[in-house]
Amino acid sequence: MSDWTIRGKQAFSGDIQVPGDKSISHRAVMIGSLAAGETHITNFLPSEDCKRTVAVFRSLGVDIAERSATDISVRGGSLSEPDDVLDMGNSGTGLRLLAGVLAGQPFLAVVTGDKSIRQRPMKRVCEPLRKMGATIFARSGDLAPLAVRGGYLKGIDLESPIASAQVKSSVLLAGLFADGQTTVTEPSPSRDHTERMLRAFGADLKREERSVTLQPGSQLRGRTVEVPGDISSAAFFIVGALITPGSALRIHNVGVNPTRTGLLDALSAMGAELSLEDQREASGEPVATIVVRHSELKGTRFGGAIIPRMIDEIPALALAAAFAEDDTVIEDIGELRVKESDRISTVTSALREMGARIHPQVEGLIIEGGGPLTPATVDSHGDHRIAMMSAIAATTTEGETIVRDTDCVNTSFPGFLDLLHRATGMGS
Ligand code: S3P
Repeated sequence: MSDWTIRGKQAFSGDIQVPGDKSISHRAVMIGSLAAGETHITNFLPSEDCKRTVAVFRSLGVDIAERSATDISVRGGSLSEPDDVLDMGNSGTGLRLLAGVLAGQPFLAVVTGDKSIRQRPMKRVCEPLRKMGATIFARSGDLAPLAVRGGYLKGIDLESPIASAQVKSSVLLAGLFADGQTTVTEPSPSRDHTERMLRAFGADLKREERSVTLQPGSQLRGRTVEVPGDISSAAFFIVGALITPGSALRIHNVGVNPTRTGLLDALSAMGAELSLEDQREASGEPVATIVVRHSELKGTRFGGAIIPRMIDEIPALALAAAFAEDDTVIEDIGELRVKESDRISTVTSALREMGARIHPQVEGLIIEGGGPLTPATVDSHGDHRIAMMSAIAATTTEGETIVRDTDCVNTSFPGFLDLLHRATGMGS
């Protein structure tokens, strides 16, 4: 288990790029594996989570060649029965989307993951997939490992009680193999990468505001997928620049799909100086350069439909709020309790260690603003986003902070610490 020692205090400046988007990288491998012909993926995220997806689809018989760590070629078409358990490591996205794919296959597969994954709720995908006709055995409470015997499926009309792209995507991927159409309706829109990519690969898919309907039967065809930089990774640098005096940072080639840009809207509402430049489209996804400079922030109240649009950015937002004038209230974040850690409690304990006044609620957080933070020893609890939030918080302090248990950062952001050094001049 490795630790980081971070010595503040430096401004964020210059031009940087963050690695490829995790959600899009997973989907490109999975959908490419189902499509006929070659799918060429550029700027693939070579993180532990996404490498698991590659390994698992190889175990399902797909020919996947790595031209380099970030340049992948998938020759898909059909899957075959794996001869061993499929291990998705720490990846909730990987496991839940894989369950949907397996539900449509006429063979048995057993899927599992690490200790954190084996505690995270899988009922949300098991129930709809069973309704479609898949046989799924799980530990009590529908926890992984899952044994999935797929085969004949029928389309369903799912009214999901939670806005979850993982649930929506799992059911849509199963829907590709079903008899009849599948519709998923969400309380408010979650990230729509699956819909965009399925369409680009040739699926018949219609979207309304909160619903998406897939008509099975179209042949998916391989294509090139250019993965944009991950806004969830950029989030830590955006917030670092905003809260550190003297900062001015440009982050190039970031995915700015509107279902992912809740953090930018939230920070703008707090008074952040943020803008998008060089806007373009890459493989059906909007991409831009994010330009950010140190700003005075004002405490604000957030809840409702913006939450799914920044569900992974709440740790970064909470850190920004600790530097705002007045209180920030974040509501409707009960889903944070079932992420890689219980993030309502791990964000609270990490920021409290550093002197922030932050109050956990059942489904929310109240953060008293005012900064500044103080150096401390902080535990990531094995959660990559808590480790990265703590490292950024440390760069605002005078002195030395130790972030414990940081290997988890490789699940989403290999090279994070090097980039932090580069953007802040730290350690140089
Ligand atoms: C993801 C969906 C979100 C998000 C996760 C990635 C995806 O999870 O938190 O990091 O790629 O579909 P939920 O669907 O559980 O909200």
